[in-house]
Amino acid sequence: MGNTEISSEISYSPAVAKATAPFYERVRNVIPEIEWPVHAGYVDAIHRLKRERNAVVLAHNYQTPEIFHCISDIVGDSLALARQAAETNADVIVMAGVHFMAETAKLLNPEKTVLIPDTRAGCSLAESITGADVRILREKHPGVPIVTYVNTSAEVKAECDICCTSGNAIKIVESLGSDQVIFVPDEFLAKYVARNTDVEIIPWRGRCEVHERFSAAELDTYRNSHPDLFILAHPECPPDVLDTADYVGSTSQMISYVGRERPKNVLLVTECSMSDNVAAANPDINFVRPCNLCPHMKRITLAKIYRSLDTLTPRVEVAPKVAAQARVAVESMLAVPC
Ligand code: 13P
Ligand code: SF4
Repeated sequence: MGNTEISSEISYSPAVAKATAPFYERVRNVIPEIEWPVHAGYVDAIHRLKRERNAVVLAHNYQTPEIFHCISDIVGDSLALARQAAETNADVIVMAGVHFMAETAKLLNPEKTVLIPDTRAGCSLAESITGADVRILREKHPGVPIVTYVNTSAEVKAECDICCTSGNAIKIVESLGSDQVIFVPDEFLAKYVARNTDVEIIPWRGRCEVHERFSAAELDTYRNSHPDLFILAHPECPPDVLDTADYVGSTSQMISYVGRERPKNVLLVTECSMSDNVAAANPDINFVRPCNLCPHMKRITLAKIYRSLDTLTPRVEVAPKVAAQARVAVESMLAVPC
């Protein structure tokens, strides 16, 4: 259900306009005024339901501005969402992100209700590897520790020693004190780590379907037309893209860099809703925006978040045995100071 299929309980009225006006101010420069009535009824209703359910909405940096800026309690990269999920006192967690993020929140909060507004919100990296694949890798490389990017299913995490995110991958690999590490499933993140550590990295062949589409040639075109362009890239991008970039980091690391250094003209080489979110908060910075959308992240809409909070479905569940083993991998990551 997209926002166009408006629930009969949702309407736009002067009272809704007044109640949601402070939220509109946050997104004014990326959402035209004519579009706000489509979102405002849901924004108002979601805030009411969150209070009734003692719920929090966790939103990844790739969510659209009306979700990211107007109804979320906690926003961030995969690492921040995992950390905050471990600390919340809410009874209900709604993950405005993809399925592996909701599973991670459930692993850390087995007694809480964790909702994913659309169960089809997957990830090409998570799809690229199974628990059986990891068992084969372990047999092939006995004694070599296995690091899994957090973009995997609980079943895969359960077979690995420790998780990492794009924000802490190098530190996690080096924390193991091993000369060799198996790193799954993102081959480009594995290459990025290998180039920045002395540890020998044994990679898998997964790719992010969003970041693999960027090319150095494309970035050169933007640089030629904007000579003072500052390019920030996510480490899920191909190596030649990272070579062309001025800065490489996780989504939150990119956002912090832009907020701190305030380059005048910026290209964020990552999912394109993030540029909208950063532009909303930084109206004085000019963003060049090639638009590669993540189809999985985009399955999450205000309408589905409303429906999910209303019905307390779909719930994320992980089989207890898998959850117990996968939790060890996630908690081991959170225990490493980063
Ligand atoms: P981070 O937000 O952790 O950098 O991850 C990017 C991503 O692709 C999540 O799906
Ligand atoms: Fe997965 Fe890439 Fe989408 Fe992130 S952007 S959820 S890594 S497909």
